[in-house]
Amino acid sequence: MTALSINAERLLGRIRELGQIGRDEDARLVRLAASDADKAGRDAFVAWIGDAGLEVAVDRIGNIFGIWKDGANAGRAPILLGSHIDTVINAGIYDGCYGVLSGLEVIETLKAAGYTPARPIAVAAFTNEEGVRYAPDMMGSLVFAGGLSVEAALATVGTDGTVLGAELERIGYAGPEEPSFLKPHAYVELHIEQGPVLEREGVSIGAVENLQGISWQRVTVDGDANHAGTTPMSMRRDAGHAAACVVTFLRDCARASNTPTVATVGCMSFEPNAINVIPSRATFTVDLRDPDEQRLQAAEAALAAYLKELAIAEEVTISVERLARFEPVTFDRKIVELVEAAARKRGLASKRMTSGAGHDAQMIARIAPSAMIFVPSLGGVSHNPREHTPDADLVAGANILLDVVTCLTAQ
Ligand code: GLV
Ligand code: MN
Ligand code: MN
Repeated sequence: MTALSINAERLLGRIRELGQIGRDEDARLVRLAASDADKAGRDAFVAWIGDAGLEVAVDRIGNIFGIWKDGANAGRAPILLGSHIDTVINAGIYDGCYGVLSGLEVIETLKAAGYTPARPIAVAAFTNEEGVRYAPDMMGSLVFAGGLSVEAALATVGTDGTVLGAELERIGYAGPEEPSFLKPHAYVELHIEQGPVLEREGVSIGAVENLQGISWQRVTVDGDANHAGTTPMSMRRDAGHAAACVVTFLRDCARASNTPTVATVGCMSFEPNAINVIPSRATFTVDLRDPDEQRLQAAEAALAAYLKELAIAEEVTISVERLARFEPVTFDRKIVELVEAAARKRGLASKRMTSGAGHDAQMIARIAPSAMIFVPSLGGVSHNPREHTPDADLVAGANILLDVVTCLTAQ
């Protein structure tokens, strides 16, 4: 008997269609959480959930669910699939959207095949996974998992001064359900790898067994504004220079450590931000990640010690605000094994791997056995419009998700 397969044309068509929603005037894909562009993407997803004949539910933090249940299995905890449809600035079309649309595709395929799952199956699009507009990242799934109160999350002030709760109301996605209304039996997230390993090794399926810890901080350096032409170099309290020292310190430390630690300064702004004025203030973000919690703590401690020294040496004041902190997560061994077995059955090579990116699965793992499936990202490129995964890999990954869900709902 040939194995059931997802409808490739429908899945790929929706990925491309969603990828055109939320383009800015420069044709960049920018669907930041709870923005008008995000609303347009959400509306498309909700319409597709309706087309599939699923129940739609939206919780108070704006997470959207498409739920397939029937009389016989309705009282049982569902298998939850999903990811996110918010994006970074100038994003690719696959990050998050692939997992959400594949979850929906798997449900539609099983439904059309007359399959009777022993449990409900639901697909979720979690709010604000990227954390670009509102920190922390993975916010919708964090709230859903009980790791942050819905009130605190809704009160979050964004990088543009907006308040998340007001924005969700405005776009019509401040739903009525308490985030705890649905308790998953297990969670499986399909995602592009966003790194180079699978492509380099010629492997089509990643069985993701763990995910690295993430530390986000915002650092503010205060010095003195003064004239760029008249102030001798020895008499400056230059916040911009101090910020630049931190950038090079982080890079040098991470490279010299010879460990998987990665460090990034992705945002920086100066005040007053003028060509002929020494910056009085520099504000920048630090993103530190490591699969090992002890090493991540050591990297945080090294940064804190350096900031102390720097403040004295440069006669500036430095303050730090924590934006996000998530420990590394180990995924459910049995689901990881199901992913490997499904790949074997379909004649696909698989590889156990660590996720370098943050994902909603990291949050859901707090409340339910969880795991992830990766497919290759060409050149390891992501958070970039050049992000690309060949269609055949996208379809193969969705079929693995289909097989894993079939196993998880057999009894
Ligand atoms: C999410 O994309 C992250 O890893 O920052
Ligand atoms: Mn993602
Ligand atoms: Mn992302």
